[in-house]
Amino acid sequence: MRTRWYKDAVVYQIYPRSFCDSDGDGIGDLRGIISKLDYLQELGVDAVWLSPIYASPNEDNGYDISDYRSIMPEFGTMDDFKEMVAGLHARGIRLIMDLVANHTSDEHEWFRQSRSSVDNPYRDYYIWRKGKGKNGKRPPNNWTSNFLGPAWEYDAQTQEYYLHLFARKQPDLNWDNPKVRREIADICNYWFELGVDGFRCDVITYVSKTPGLPDACDVPLRGLKYYAIGPNYHAYMHELYLNSWSKYDSMTVGEAAGVSCDDAPSCIDETREELDSIFGFEHVNFCDRFCMVIPRKLNLPKFKRVLARWQAMPKTCQPTLFLENHDQSRSLPRFVGDYGALRKEAAKSLAISMMFQRGTPYIYQGQEIGMTNCAFGDDEYRDIMSINALKAVTKYAPLCKGIVRNVLAHAARDHARTPMQWNASHGAGFTDGAPWMKINPNHTEIHVEESMRDPDGIFGFYRDLLRYRKGNDLVIEGDFVLEYPKDKRLFVYRRTLGARQLLVIANYTNRKVKFRLPAACVDQPSALVLSSYRDTAPTAGDCVLRPYEAAVYEIGKST
Ligand code: GLC
Repeated sequence: MRTRWYKDAVVYQIYPRSFCDSDGDGIGDLRGIISKLDYLQELGVDAVWLSPIYASPNEDNGYDISDYRSIMPEFGTMDDFKEMVAGLHARGIRLIMDLVANHTSDEHEWFRQSRSSVDNPYRDYYIWRKGKGKNGKRPPNNWTSNFLGPAWEYDAQTQEYYLHLFARKQPDLNWDNPKVRREIADICNYWFELGVDGFRCDVITYVSKTPGLPDACDVPLRGLKYYAIGPNYHAYMHELYLNSWSKYDSMTVGEAAGVSCDDAPSCIDETREELDSIFGFEHVNFCDRFCMVIPRKLNLPKFKRVLARWQAMPKTCQPTLFLENHDQSRSLPRFVGDYGALRKEAAKSLAISMMFQRGTPYIYQGQEIGMTNCAFGDDEYRDIMSINALKAVTKYAPLCKGIVRNVLAHAARDHARTPMQWNASHGAGFTDGAPWMKINPNHTEIHVEESMRDPDGIFGFYRDLLRYRKGNDLVIEGDFVLEYPKDKRLFVYRRTLGARQLLVIANYTNRKVKFRLPAACVDQPSALVLSSYRDTAPTAGDCVLRPYEAAVYEIGKST
Protein backbone atom coordinates (compact mmCIF):
# COMPACT_ATOMS: atom_id res chain seq x y z
CA MET A 1 0.00 0.00 0.00
CA ARG A 2 1.32 3.43 -0.93
CA THR A 3 0.58 5.89 1.89
CA ARG A 4 1.93 8.97 0.12
CA TRP A 5 3.99 9.76 3.21
CA TYR A 6 5.99 12.30 1.23
CA LYS A 7 3.11 14.78 1.51
CA ASP A 8 4.09 15.45 5.10
CA ALA A 9 7.83 14.92 4.79
CA VAL A 10 10.88 17.13 4.76
CA VAL A 11 13.81 15.65 2.86
CA TYR A 12 17.49 16.30 3.55
CA GLN A 13 19.93 15.78 0.67
CA ILE A 14 23.33 14.29 1.40
CA TYR A 15 26.14 14.55 -1.14
CA PRO A 16 28.12 11.67 0.36
CA ARG A 17 31.53 12.66 -0.97
CA SER A 18 31.36 15.92 0.96
CA PHE A 19 29.34 15.05 4.04
CA CYS A 20 31.57 13.29 6.56
CA ASP A 21 34.77 11.27 6.17
CA SER A 22 35.21 8.50 8.78
CA ASP A 23 38.54 7.03 7.65
CA GLY A 24 40.74 10.02 6.89
CA ASP A 25 41.05 9.52 3.13
CA GLY A 26 39.54 12.95 2.52
CA ILE A 27 36.36 11.52 0.98
CA GLY A 28 33.02 11.38 2.77
CA ASP A 29 31.64 7.87 3.32
CA LEU A 30 28.78 5.79 4.69
CA ARG A 31 30.29 5.38 8.15
CA GLY A 32 30.62 9.15 8.22
CA ILE A 33 26.90 9.39 7.53
CA ILE A 34 26.19 6.79 10.22
CA SER A 35 28.07 8.99 12.71
CA LYS A 36 25.71 11.88 11.90
CA LEU A 37 22.35 10.13 12.14
CA ASP A 38 21.59 11.68 15.52
CA TYR A 39 22.27 15.07 13.98
CA LEU A 40 19.68 14.41 11.27
CA GLN A 41 17.19 13.24 13.85
CA GLU A 42 17.80 16.34 15.95
CA LEU A 43 17.14 18.51 12.89
CA GLY A 44 13.88 16.61 12.46
CA VAL A 45 13.96 15.53 8.83
CA ASP A 46 11.72 12.70 7.64
CA ALA A 47 13.83 11.38 4.80
CA VAL A 48 17.31 11.50 3.37
CA TRP A 49 18.03 11.69 -0.35
CA LEU A 50 21.45 10.24 -0.89
CA SER A 51 23.30 11.24 -4.05
CA PRO A 52 24.75 8.13 -5.80
CA ILE A 53 26.80 5.70 -3.75
CA TYR A 54 27.10 2.93 -6.36
CA ALA A 55 30.32 1.69 -7.95
CA SER A 56 31.57 4.38 -10.31
CA PRO A 57 34.79 5.62 -11.90
CA ASN A 58 33.67 9.10 -10.73
CA GLU A 59 33.83 10.97 -13.98
CA ASP A 60 30.78 12.82 -12.67
CA ASN A 61 31.07 11.95 -8.96
CA GLY A 62 28.92 8.85 -8.98
CA TYR A 63 26.41 10.00 -11.62
CA ASP A 64 28.24 7.57 -13.89
CA ILE A 65 27.44 4.13 -12.53
CA SER A 66 29.49 1.06 -13.39
CA ASP A 67 27.54 -1.37 -11.22
CA TYR A 68 24.05 -0.58 -9.94
CA ARG A 69 24.13 -3.31 -7.32
CA SER A 70 27.31 -2.54 -5.44
CA ILE A 71 28.63 0.23 -3.23
CA MET A 72 31.52 2.46 -4.28
CA PRO A 73 34.51 1.14 -2.27
CA GLU A 74 35.54 4.70 -1.32
CA PHE A 75 32.16 5.00 0.42
CA GLY A 76 32.20 1.64 2.22
CA THR A 77 30.60 -1.76 1.99
CA MET A 78 27.17 -3.31 1.69
CA ASP A 79 27.28 -4.00 5.43
CA ASP A 80 27.86 -0.30 6.06
CA PHE A 81 24.91 0.43 3.82
CA LYS A 82 22.67 -1.96 5.74
CA GLU A 83 23.76 -0.46 9.03
CA MET A 84 23.01 3.01 7.71
CA VAL A 85 19.52 2.00 6.55
CA ALA A 86 18.78 0.35 9.91
CA GLY A 87 20.07 3.43 11.74
CA LEU A 88 17.93 5.78 9.66
CA HIS A 89 14.82 3.66 10.06
CA ALA A 90 15.37 3.30 13.80
CA ARG A 91 15.18 7.09 13.94
CA GLY A 92 12.06 7.26 11.78
CA ILE A 93 13.98 8.59 8.78
CA ARG A 94 13.37 7.11 5.33
CA LEU A 95 15.95 6.71 2.61
CA ILE A 96 15.65 7.89 -0.98
CA MET A 97 18.38 6.71 -3.34
CA ASP A 98 19.50 8.40 -6.52
CA LEU A 99 18.47 6.41 -9.58
CA VAL A 100 20.75 7.38 -12.46
CA ALA A 101 19.15 5.53 -15.32
CA ASN A 102 19.30 7.80 -18.36
CA HIS A 103 22.91 6.72 -18.77
CA THR A 104 25.54 4.46 -17.24
CA SER A 105 29.30 4.74 -17.05
CA ASP A 106 31.17 3.53 -20.12
CA GLU A 107 32.82 1.16 -17.64
CA HIS A 108 29.52 -0.60 -16.93
CA GLU A 109 29.57 -4.24 -18.11
CA TRP A 110 26.57 -3.57 -20.37
CA PHE A 111 28.53 -0.92 -22.24
CA ARG A 112 31.71 -2.98 -22.42
CA GLN A 113 29.65 -5.69 -24.10
CA SER A 114 27.70 -3.24 -26.20
CA ARG A 115 30.73 -1.57 -27.71
CA SER A 116 32.50 -4.87 -28.42
CA SER A 117 30.56 -5.74 -31.62
CA VAL A 118 27.45 -4.76 -33.56
CA ASP A 119 25.82 -8.13 -32.93
CA ASN A 120 26.54 -8.38 -29.21
CA PRO A 121 23.27 -9.00 -27.27
CA TYR A 122 23.90 -5.76 -25.35
CA ARG A 123 24.44 -3.65 -28.49
CA ASP A 124 20.89 -2.37 -28.34
CA TYR A 125 21.17 -1.35 -24.67
CA TYR A 126 22.69 1.92 -25.91
CA ILE A 127 22.06 4.32 -28.77
CA TRP A 128 24.45 3.57 -31.63
CA ARG A 129 24.30 5.19 -35.07
CA LYS A 130 26.46 5.36 -38.16
CA GLY A 131 28.18 8.68 -38.79
CA LYS A 132 27.17 11.04 -41.56
CA GLY A 133 29.18 12.31 -44.49
CA LYS A 134 31.36 10.59 -47.06
CA ASN A 135 33.49 8.64 -44.60
CA GLY A 136 30.89 8.48 -41.88
CA LYS A 137 33.09 10.78 -39.84
CA ARG A 138 30.41 13.35 -38.97
CA PRO A 139 28.22 12.75 -35.90
CA PRO A 140 24.75 11.34 -36.65
CA ASN A 141 23.08 14.62 -35.65
CA ASN A 142 23.96 18.05 -34.27
CA TRP A 143 22.85 17.62 -30.67
CA THR A 144 25.13 19.06 -27.99
CA SER A 145 26.03 17.48 -24.68
CA ASN A 146 24.88 19.03 -21.40
CA PHE A 147 28.58 19.14 -20.51
CA LEU A 148 29.69 21.05 -23.66
CA GLY A 149 30.70 19.71 -27.08
CA PRO A 150 28.90 17.22 -29.32
CA ALA A 151 26.59 14.60 -27.82
CA TRP A 152 28.16 11.80 -29.88
CA GLU A 153 31.39 9.88 -29.52
CA TYR A 154 32.94 7.84 -32.31
CA ASP A 155 33.98 4.35 -31.32
CA ALA A 156 36.71 2.90 -33.53
CA GLN A 157 35.99 -0.72 -32.56
CA THR A 158 32.70 -0.88 -34.49
CA GLN A 159 33.05 2.40 -36.40
CA GLU A 160 29.82 3.86 -35.08
CA TYR A 161 28.89 6.70 -32.77
CA TYR A 162 27.15 6.39 -29.40
CA LEU A 163 24.95 9.07 -27.86
CA HIS A 164 25.93 10.73 -24.57
CA LEU A 165 23.78 13.64 -23.42
CA PHE A 166 26.31 14.19 -20.62
CA ALA A 167 30.02 13.29 -20.47
CA ARG A 168 31.67 11.08 -23.05
CA LYS A 169 32.00 8.48 -20.31
CA GLN A 170 28.22 8.54 -19.71
CA PRO A 171 26.61 6.74 -22.67
CA ASP A 172 22.80 7.05 -22.83
CA LEU A 173 20.79 3.90 -22.31
CA ASN A 174 18.31 2.95 -25.00
CA TRP A 175 14.99 2.98 -23.16
CA ASP A 176 13.16 1.94 -26.31
CA ASN A 177 14.61 -1.51 -25.64
CA PRO A 178 12.18 -3.29 -23.26
CA LYS A 179 15.08 -5.27 -21.75
CA VAL A 180 16.67 -2.03 -20.55
CA ARG A 181 13.43 -0.95 -18.89
CA ARG A 182 13.12 -4.36 -17.22
CA GLU A 183 16.69 -4.04 -15.91
CA ILE A 184 15.88 -0.64 -14.39
CA ALA A 185 12.73 -1.97 -12.69
CA ASP A 186 14.75 -4.90 -11.31
CA ILE A 187 17.41 -2.52 -9.97
CA CYS A 188 14.73 -0.47 -8.18
CA ASN A 189 13.23 -3.64 -6.70
CA TYR A 190 16.66 -4.84 -5.58
CA TRP A 191 17.15 -1.66 -3.52
CA PHE A 192 13.58 -1.66 -2.25
CA GLU A 193 14.21 -5.16 -0.88
CA LEU A 194 17.24 -3.74 0.93
CA GLY A 195 14.98 -1.26 2.67
CA VAL A 196 15.11 1.80 0.45
CA ASP A 197 11.95 3.96 0.52
CA GLY A 198 12.11 5.75 -2.79
CA PHE A 199 14.12 7.21 -5.62
CA ARG A 200 15.21 10.57 -6.88
CA CYS A 201 15.31 9.89 -10.59
CA ASP A 202 18.21 11.63 -12.29
CA VAL A 203 17.42 13.47 -15.56
CA ILE A 204 14.57 11.02 -15.96
CA THR A 205 12.66 13.28 -18.33
CA TYR A 206 15.36 12.69 -20.96
CA VAL A 207 14.89 8.94 -21.36
CA SER A 208 12.65 8.89 -24.42
CA LYS A 209 14.29 10.25 -27.55
CA THR A 210 12.36 11.26 -30.66
CA PRO A 211 12.65 8.50 -33.27
CA GLY A 212 15.00 9.40 -36.09
CA LEU A 213 16.97 11.63 -33.70
CA PRO A 214 16.45 14.67 -35.95
CA ASP A 215 18.87 17.59 -36.19
CA ALA A 216 17.79 20.46 -33.98
CA CYS A 217 18.22 24.20 -33.89
CA ASP A 218 17.32 25.01 -30.27
CA VAL A 219 19.88 26.87 -28.14
CA PRO A 220 21.86 26.66 -25.97
CA LEU A 221 21.28 22.92 -25.63
CA ARG A 222 20.78 21.63 -29.14
CA GLY A 223 18.45 18.61 -29.22
CA LEU A 224 16.67 19.23 -25.90
CA LYS A 225 13.26 19.54 -27.54
CA TYR A 226 13.72 16.07 -29.02
CA TYR A 227 14.36 14.34 -25.73
CA ALA A 228 12.77 16.35 -22.85
CA ILE A 229 9.51 14.47 -22.21
CA GLY A 230 9.97 12.55 -25.45
CA PRO A 231 7.19 10.59 -27.17
CA ASN A 232 7.28 7.48 -24.94
CA TYR A 233 8.23 9.16 -21.69
CA HIS A 234 4.82 8.75 -20.01
CA ALA A 235 4.44 5.12 -21.09
CA TYR A 236 7.89 4.28 -19.71
CA MET A 237 7.19 5.94 -16.37
CA HIS A 238 3.85 4.15 -16.01
CA GLU A 239 5.53 0.84 -16.80
CA LEU A 240 8.18 1.43 -14.12
CA TYR A 241 5.44 2.40 -11.71
CA LEU A 242 3.64 -0.87 -12.35
CA ASN A 243 6.76 -3.06 -12.35
CA SER A 244 8.38 -1.51 -9.32
CA TRP A 245 7.37 1.71 -7.57
CA SER A 246 3.71 0.80 -6.97
CA LYS A 247 4.68 -2.39 -5.15
CA TYR A 248 6.25 -0.57 -2.23
CA ASP A 249 5.27 2.24 0.13
CA SER A 250 7.61 4.38 -1.86
CA MET A 251 8.01 7.87 -3.24
CA THR A 252 9.65 9.09 -6.40
CA VAL A 253 10.86 12.51 -7.37
CA GLY A 254 12.15 13.13 -10.86
CA GLU A 255 14.71 15.65 -11.90
CA ALA A 256 12.77 17.42 -14.60
CA ALA A 257 15.05 19.78 -16.46
CA GLY A 258 13.22 21.35 -19.37
CA VAL A 259 9.76 20.79 -17.84
CA SER A 260 7.57 23.80 -17.18
CA CYS A 261 4.71 24.11 -14.76
CA ASP A 262 2.29 23.60 -17.66
CA ASP A 263 3.69 20.12 -18.32
CA ALA A 264 4.07 19.16 -14.66
CA PRO A 265 0.58 17.78 -13.94
CA SER A 266 0.89 15.36 -16.85
CA CYS A 267 4.03 14.00 -15.14
CA ILE A 268 2.94 13.84 -11.51
CA ASP A 269 -0.83 13.83 -11.11
CA GLU A 270 -1.63 10.92 -8.78
CA THR A 271 -4.14 9.53 -11.25
CA ARG A 272 -1.41 9.03 -13.86
CA GLU A 273 0.55 6.48 -11.84
CA GLU A 274 3.93 7.78 -12.93
CA LEU A 275 6.31 9.86 -10.76
CA ASP A 276 4.99 11.28 -7.48
CA SER A 277 6.73 14.63 -7.87
CA ILE A 278 9.36 16.45 -9.88
CA PHE A 279 11.97 19.13 -9.44
CA GLY A 280 11.18 21.91 -11.89
CA PHE A 281 13.90 24.49 -12.40
CA GLU A 282 11.97 27.52 -13.60
CA HIS A 283 12.31 29.34 -10.29
CA VAL A 284 16.06 28.76 -9.93
CA ASN A 285 17.12 29.10 -13.55
CA PHE A 286 15.17 31.99 -14.90
CA CYS A 287 14.86 34.21 -11.86
CA ASP A 288 18.49 33.96 -11.12
CA ARG A 289 20.75 36.68 -9.82
CA PHE A 290 22.86 35.66 -12.71
CA CYS A 291 21.85 36.37 -16.28
CA MET A 292 24.26 34.98 -18.87
CA VAL A 293 27.49 36.58 -17.73
CA ILE A 294 26.21 39.54 -15.78
CA PRO A 295 25.32 39.14 -12.13
CA ARG A 296 22.06 40.91 -11.44
CA LYS A 297 19.40 41.16 -8.78
CA LEU A 298 16.82 38.44 -8.30
CA ASN A 299 13.65 39.29 -10.17
CA LEU A 300 11.37 38.79 -7.17
CA PRO A 301 8.01 39.38 -8.92
CA LYS A 302 8.94 36.80 -11.56
CA PHE A 303 10.24 34.38 -8.94
CA LYS A 304 6.97 34.65 -7.00
CA ARG A 305 4.89 34.31 -10.15
CA VAL A 306 6.63 31.08 -11.12
CA LEU A 307 6.31 29.59 -7.64
CA ALA A 308 2.66 30.63 -7.40
CA ARG A 309 1.92 28.80 -10.65
CA TRP A 310 3.38 25.57 -9.26
CA GLN A 311 1.32 26.14 -6.10
CA ALA A 312 -1.83 26.41 -8.20
CA MET A 313 -1.49 22.86 -9.53
CA PRO A 314 -4.38 20.55 -8.56
CA LYS A 315 -4.11 19.03 -5.07
CA THR A 316 -3.40 15.68 -6.70
CA CYS A 317 -0.03 17.10 -7.76
CA GLN A 318 2.63 17.51 -5.10
CA PRO A 319 5.08 20.41 -5.62
CA THR A 320 8.69 20.24 -4.43
CA LEU A 321 10.15 23.17 -2.51
CA PHE A 322 13.86 23.78 -2.93
CA LEU A 323 16.51 26.42 -3.55
CA GLU A 324 19.62 24.30 -3.32
CA ASN A 325 21.01 20.95 -4.40
CA HIS A 326 24.38 19.57 -5.45
CA ASP A 327 24.09 21.24 -8.89
CA GLN A 328 23.18 24.75 -7.75
CA SER A 329 25.35 27.40 -6.17
CA ARG A 330 24.37 28.31 -2.61
CA SER A 331 21.08 30.11 -2.10
CA LEU A 332 22.33 32.99 0.06
CA PRO A 333 24.57 34.64 -2.54
CA ARG A 334 22.26 33.59 -5.32
CA PHE A 335 18.85 34.73 -4.12
CA VAL A 336 19.80 37.33 -1.54
CA GLY A 337 23.07 38.92 -2.56
CA ASP A 338 24.60 41.46 -0.23
CA TYR A 339 23.44 40.25 3.15
CA GLY A 340 26.55 41.59 4.92
CA ALA A 341 26.33 40.91 8.64
CA LEU A 342 22.76 39.64 8.31
CA ARG A 343 23.52 36.14 7.01
CA LYS A 344 21.39 34.43 9.62
CA GLU A 345 18.38 36.70 9.10
CA ALA A 346 18.66 36.34 5.32
CA ALA A 347 18.88 32.54 5.48
CA LYS A 348 15.82 32.43 7.74
CA SER A 349 13.90 34.76 5.47
CA LEU A 350 14.55 32.46 2.51
CA ALA A 351 13.55 29.41 4.56
CA ILE A 352 10.33 30.98 5.78
CA SER A 353 9.26 32.08 2.32
CA MET A 354 9.92 28.64 0.78
CA MET A 355 9.01 26.14 3.46
CA PHE A 356 5.50 27.28 4.28
CA GLN A 357 4.33 26.70 0.73
CA ARG A 358 2.45 23.55 -0.20
CA GLY A 359 4.81 20.75 -1.18
CA THR A 360 7.69 18.58 -0.05
CA PRO A 361 10.60 20.75 1.15
CA TYR A 362 14.19 19.72 0.44
CA ILE A 363 17.12 20.95 2.52
CA TYR A 364 20.56 20.52 0.97
CA GLN A 365 23.42 19.69 3.36
CA GLY A 366 24.81 22.88 4.87
CA GLN A 367 21.76 24.96 4.03
CA GLU A 368 20.58 24.44 7.62
CA ILE A 369 23.63 26.37 8.87
CA GLY A 370 23.71 28.95 6.07
CA MET A 371 26.76 27.75 4.14
CA THR A 372 27.83 30.05 1.32
CA ASN A 373 29.72 29.98 -1.98
CA CYS A 374 33.48 29.59 -1.97
CA ALA A 375 36.24 31.42 -3.88
CA PHE A 376 38.13 28.98 -6.13
CA GLY A 377 41.33 29.31 -8.13
CA ASP A 378 41.22 27.74 -11.62
CA ASP A 379 42.88 24.55 -10.39
CA GLU A 380 40.61 24.20 -7.36
CA TYR A 381 37.46 23.33 -9.32
CA ARG A 382 36.63 19.63 -9.17
CA ASP A 383 33.40 19.42 -11.17
CA ILE A 384 33.63 18.12 -14.73
CA MET A 385 31.42 20.98 -15.98
CA SER A 386 33.69 23.66 -14.52
CA ILE A 387 36.83 21.87 -15.68
CA ASN A 388 35.42 21.45 -19.22
CA ALA A 389 34.42 25.11 -19.37
CA LEU A 390 37.87 26.30 -18.31
CA LYS A 391 39.60 23.92 -20.74
CA ALA A 392 37.38 24.98 -23.65
CA VAL A 393 37.84 28.69 -23.07
CA THR A 394 41.61 28.33 -22.65
CA LYS A 395 41.80 26.44 -25.93
CA TYR A 396 39.30 28.26 -28.13
CA ALA A 397 38.78 31.74 -26.69
CA PRO A 398 41.48 32.69 -24.19
CA LEU A 399 40.39 36.32 -24.27
CA CYS A 400 37.05 35.28 -22.77
CA LYS A 401 38.59 33.51 -19.80
CA GLY A 402 37.59 36.35 -17.46
CA ILE A 403 33.95 35.90 -18.41
CA VAL A 404 34.03 32.16 -17.77
CA ARG A 405 35.77 32.73 -14.45
CA ASN A 406 33.04 35.16 -13.51
CA VAL A 407 30.33 32.68 -14.46
CA LEU A 408 31.98 29.95 -12.39
CA ALA A 409 32.51 32.27 -9.43
CA HIS A 410 28.73 32.70 -9.26
CA ALA A 411 27.27 29.55 -10.68
CA ALA A 412 29.70 26.59 -10.60
CA ARG A 413 28.31 23.38 -9.15
CA ASP A 414 31.44 23.21 -7.00
CA HIS A 415 30.00 25.80 -4.58
CA ALA A 416 27.50 23.27 -3.26
CA ARG A 417 30.07 20.51 -3.04
CA THR A 418 32.63 21.96 -0.64
CA PRO A 419 32.85 19.75 2.45
CA MET A 420 30.24 20.07 5.15
CA GLN A 421 31.38 22.45 7.89
CA TRP A 422 30.98 20.60 11.18
CA ASN A 423 33.40 22.63 13.27
CA ALA A 424 36.18 25.23 13.12
CA SER A 425 39.08 22.74 13.05
CA HIS A 426 41.54 22.41 10.18
CA GLY A 427 39.49 19.77 8.33
CA ALA A 428 36.19 21.42 9.38
CA GLY A 429 35.30 18.22 11.26
CA PHE A 430 34.74 16.72 7.80
CA THR A 431 38.08 14.92 7.59
CA ASP A 432 41.34 14.32 9.42
CA GLY A 433 43.12 13.90 6.08
CA ALA A 434 43.52 15.95 2.93
CA PRO A 435 40.00 16.81 1.67
CA TRP A 436 39.12 15.78 -1.89
CA MET A 437 38.13 19.38 -2.58
CA LYS A 438 38.71 22.75 -1.01
CA ILE A 439 37.05 23.45 2.32
CA ASN A 440 35.47 26.89 2.41
CA PRO A 441 37.80 29.07 4.52
CA ASN A 442 34.75 30.55 6.25
CA HIS A 443 34.30 27.23 8.11
CA THR A 444 36.09 28.85 11.04
CA GLU A 445 32.95 30.96 11.55
CA ILE A 446 30.16 29.07 9.82
CA HIS A 447 29.87 25.56 11.19
CA VAL A 448 27.44 23.16 12.83
CA GLU A 449 28.81 23.41 16.38
CA GLU A 450 28.48 27.18 16.37
CA SER A 451 25.04 27.10 14.79
CA MET A 452 23.72 24.56 17.32
CA ARG A 453 25.13 26.54 20.24
CA ASP A 454 23.70 29.85 19.11
CA PRO A 455 20.20 30.45 20.53
CA ASP A 456 19.45 32.45 17.35
CA GLY A 457 21.26 29.99 15.08
CA ILE A 458 19.94 28.90 11.70
CA PHE A 459 20.05 25.23 12.75
CA GLY A 460 17.66 25.71 15.69
CA PHE A 461 15.44 27.82 13.49
CA TYR A 462 15.12 25.01 10.94
CA ARG A 463 14.46 22.53 13.74
CA ASP A 464 11.60 24.70 15.08
CA LEU A 465 10.24 25.20 11.58
CA LEU A 466 10.21 21.46 10.91
CA ARG A 467 8.51 20.73 14.24
CA TYR A 468 5.79 23.25 13.50
CA ARG A 469 5.28 21.92 10.00
CA LYS A 470 4.99 18.26 10.99
CA GLY A 471 1.42 16.98 10.84
CA ASN A 472 0.06 20.51 10.30
CA ASP A 473 -2.69 20.07 7.75
CA LEU A 474 -2.91 23.81 7.09
CA VAL A 475 0.70 23.76 5.87
CA ILE A 476 0.37 20.41 4.12
CA GLU A 477 -2.89 20.97 2.26
CA GLY A 478 -3.99 24.58 2.63
CA ASP A 479 -4.64 26.78 -0.41
CA PHE A 480 -1.92 29.21 -1.39
CA VAL A 481 -2.80 32.85 -2.00
CA LEU A 482 -0.04 35.18 -3.18
CA GLU A 483 -0.31 38.76 -1.87
CA TYR A 484 1.29 41.80 -3.47
CA PRO A 485 2.57 39.81 -6.49
CA LYS A 486 4.28 42.84 -8.02
CA ASP A 487 6.15 43.92 -4.90
CA LYS A 488 9.88 43.82 -5.65
CA ARG A 489 10.99 43.56 -2.04
CA LEU A 490 8.50 41.43 -0.15
CA PHE A 491 7.34 37.83 -0.59
CA VAL A 492 3.95 37.63 1.13
CA TYR A 493 1.36 34.88 0.95
CA ARG A 494 -1.45 33.30 2.88
CA ARG A 495 -2.31 29.65 3.35
CA THR A 496 -5.95 28.87 4.08
CA LEU A 497 -7.84 25.76 5.12
CA GLY A 498 -11.46 26.24 6.10
CA ALA A 499 -11.48 29.08 8.62
CA ARG A 500 -7.80 28.72 9.43
CA GLN A 501 -5.13 30.94 7.93
CA LEU A 502 -1.40 31.41 7.99
CA LEU A 503 0.22 34.66 6.94
CA VAL A 504 3.79 34.41 5.67
CA ILE A 505 5.86 37.58 5.23
CA ALA A 506 9.47 37.82 4.06
CA ASN A 507 11.57 40.88 3.37
CA TYR A 508 14.06 39.85 0.67
CA THR A 509 16.12 43.03 0.92
CA ASN A 510 18.80 44.50 3.14
CA ARG A 511 16.65 47.60 3.63
CA LYS A 512 13.67 48.54 5.77
CA VAL A 513 10.39 48.02 3.94
CA LYS A 514 6.88 49.16 4.81
CA PHE A 515 4.40 46.34 5.18
CA ARG A 516 0.62 46.64 4.96
CA LEU A 517 -1.50 43.84 6.38
CA PRO A 518 -3.44 42.08 3.58
CA ALA A 519 -7.18 42.82 3.66
CA ALA A 520 -8.05 39.22 4.55
CA CYS A 521 -6.11 39.50 7.81
CA VAL A 522 -7.30 42.89 9.01
CA ASP A 523 -9.27 43.00 12.27
CA GLN A 524 -8.43 39.45 13.16
CA PRO A 525 -6.52 38.11 16.12
CA SER A 526 -3.10 36.71 15.24
CA ALA A 527 -0.23 34.85 16.85
CA LEU A 528 3.41 34.74 15.84
CA VAL A 529 4.67 31.26 14.92
CA LEU A 530 8.23 31.88 13.77
CA SER A 531 10.41 34.81 12.72
CA SER A 532 13.86 35.67 11.51
CA TYR A 533 14.40 38.21 14.32
CA ARG A 534 14.01 37.32 17.96
CA ASP A 535 11.88 40.39 18.74
CA THR A 536 9.46 40.45 15.83
CA ALA A 537 5.99 41.80 16.69
CA PRO A 538 3.90 39.10 18.41
CA THR A 539 0.84 40.01 16.37
CA ALA A 540 0.50 40.83 12.68
CA GLY A 541 -0.13 44.42 11.63
CA ASP A 542 1.04 47.27 9.44
CA CYS A 543 4.70 47.85 10.23
CA VAL A 544 8.16 48.60 8.94
CA LEU A 545 10.03 45.35 8.42
CA ARG A 546 13.72 45.33 9.14
CA PRO A 547 16.25 43.99 6.60
CA TYR A 548 15.45 40.30 5.93
CA GLU A 549 12.77 40.35 8.57
CA ALA A 550 10.40 37.46 7.99
CA ALA A 551 7.56 36.06 10.04
CA VAL A 552 4.75 33.54 10.04
CA TYR A 553 1.49 34.28 11.86
CA GLU A 554 -1.52 32.17 12.56
CA ILE A 555 -4.50 34.38 11.80
CA GLY A 556 -7.75 33.98 13.70
CA LYS A 557 -5.89 32.83 16.77
CA SER A 558 -4.68 35.09 19.56
CA THR A 559 -1.42 34.80 21.48
C1 GLC B 1 21.83 15.35 -12.97
C2 GLC B 1 22.64 15.38 -11.71
C3 GLC B 1 23.99 15.96 -12.03
C4 GLC B 1 24.65 15.07 -13.06
C5 GLC B 1 23.76 14.87 -14.28
C6 GLC B 1 24.24 13.75 -15.13
O1 GLC B 1 21.59 16.62 -13.47
O2 GLC B 1 21.97 16.11 -10.72
O3 GLC B 1 24.79 16.11 -10.90
O4 GLC B 1 25.86 15.63 -13.45
O5 GLC B 1 22.45 14.55 -13.91
O6 GLC B 1 24.02 12.52 -14.48
